[in-house]
Amino acid sequence: MCGIFGYVGPHAGVELLVENLKRLEYRGYDSWGVCLGVGGALELHRRAGRLSSGDMPEQLRGADTCWGGIAHTRWATHGAPNQRNAHPHVDCTGRLAVVHNGIIENHAALRETLKQEGHCFESETDTEVIAHLIEEGLREGADLRSAFLDALKLLEGTYGVGVVLADRPGLILVARHGSPMVIGAGRGETLVASDPAALVARTRDVVYLDDGEAALLSADGFETCDLTAAPTNKVIERIKFDLPAIEKGGYPHFMLKEIFEQPDTIRNAFRGRVLREEGTAKLGGIEPSLLRRVRRCHILACGTSWHAGLVGKYLLENLARVPTQVSYAAEFRYASPVIEPGTLVIAISQSGETADTLAGVREARLRGADAIGICNVVGSTIARECGQGVYIHAGPEIGVASTKAFTGQIVVLLLLAIHIGRMRGMPLREALRYLDAIERLPQQAEQALACNGDVKRVALEYADRPNFLYIGRLYEYPLALEGALKLKEISYIHAEGIPAAELKHGPIALVEPRMPTVVLGAQEGILDKMLSNVQEIRARGGSIIALAREGDRRLPELAEQTITVPAVADPLVPVLATIPLQLLAYHIAVERGCDVDKPRNLAKSVTVE
Ligand code: G6P
Repeated sequence: MCGIFGYVGPHAGVELLVENLKRLEYRGYDSWGVCLGVGGALELHRRAGRLSSGDMPEQLRGADTCWGGIAHTRWATHGAPNQRNAHPHVDCTGRLAVVHNGIIENHAALRETLKQEGHCFESETDTEVIAHLIEEGLREGADLRSAFLDALKLLEGTYGVGVVLADRPGLILVARHGSPMVIGAGRGETLVASDPAALVARTRDVVYLDDGEAALLSADGFETCDLTAAPTNKVIERIKFDLPAIEKGGYPHFMLKEIFEQPDTIRNAFRGRVLREEGTAKLGGIEPSLLRRVRRCHILACGTSWHAGLVGKYLLENLARVPTQVSYAAEFRYASPVIEPGTLVIAISQSGETADTLAGVREARLRGADAIGICNVVGSTIARECGQGVYIHAGPEIGVASTKAFTGQIVVLLLLAIHIGRMRGMPLREALRYLDAIERLPQQAEQALACNGDVKRVALEYADRPNFLYIGRLYEYPLALEGALKLKEISYIHAEGIPAAELKHGPIALVEPRMPTVVLGAQEGILDKMLSNVQEIRARGGSIIALAREGDRRLPELAEQTITVPAVADPLVPVLATIPLQLLAYHIAVERGCDVDKPRNLAKSVTVE
């Protein structure tokens, strides 16, 4: 949530800051700002609205004494998304500027104390206290590093923070506590960002700061230390993706590109992990002994990842016979959860940074659970905090609405369920049947994508409807939730996902001719029951958009519109059937003129509670 970019080196200038900041806009996009260090002065430019809206700071262009700067794109927490609250924030002198991601929970108390000490505040943000705290330390005679570290020690909450000072040209201070900061080690230049996506255009050599670490950056390099100023040792890591992975590559939107990447990303999720001889999956990031002692699983996640978790519950219970519970991470952490011995917590998170999921993992481990992560972003906080887990390797996901991460998560959950299932007596022949089916998924995902034209036609016909219902059973119930979420997120149409049998316990009262119901009917095992539900909707004049299994004639006969998906074993249906749902939401949103990649009020990576 929010994006930070900083640079110090010979190519400093507003163009460089803005160009790289744009790559972080998916993390927050309600206002933005840059602060350039120009000689012994700071130049500040802040704006409400989106960076990509073309409002460029003309007066800052071409300053050749510019040595570097910091930049920020915001997702508002404290204070409206206007120019005054946009970062960077300055101290009373205007000679020290701060950008910040996260939330300072004790900001109100700090603000009061600082005001009593004579500090004047300009914004309503929690961030501004950081600038004044450092200023106060400097006023009291501390050297810059101590003033910075002492200020950090007073903060409660989370931060990724960057600071520049007019009086210290060529220096950027950064620190991290609960909000990612990555340093890029360039040639004769040093960069910093809240996400490696903003670094990759200039360097692939990066260092991930840990919580409780700070760093001083100059064009020649960087020094890291803990909050007591003791130096810390860091290892330079290589970013594995390249620039095209974070560009649209000819697609009109990242979301569409990412939907169409799924044949590859599904393959990446199982590549090198299918062990045919033993009929199991190779999950090198998890200790085998950990999985052998599993008595129950508890999945923690938010948003789309939580929907993948619901699919995971069915997979782990059906294939591995492990009792599994799924919790919204935020509910789990405050609900005084009971963790029985032998519980394996599985944290699912595309970004690996979601604050509630991270806190859920910490809570579960405090209560004695083992935890593994299923993450996309390599080196992310949840992945590192769990220590063990499986990456889905979907590559950077930029569209705010998650698509390819969802199918990657399900593929990994399938592998995990087969792996644990084999340890608990799943017959070899059954495992091989699933593994074969998994290996066919990329090609079937291509076939599923071929429905794009049909889905677009349906989308154009229904784009003006104010409400949608989505129904499904078993493996398709989480898909009903996910289909409805996709539509809500990007088209702002109200949509509800419902277990099909629950329809008659209330939601069927909503059914009337203008109410479309998307019926997920691609599973073979439960089709008869779904058909009964469809009849109930038809009897009340509702219109049906059916997602049917290839070869099925019965469901299409009852529907106004049918989209078909390749026939697969029921546990694999969620991987393929989600593709038309993503496309449906996409085309409806485009038809309604919505900003698909940056839906209003949302952000990609939710690092606040
Ligand atoms: C945000 C995103 C969703 C995502 C959720 C969980 O709300 O907009 O697309 O599903 O966070 O994110 P995570 O990174 O933990 O999967």
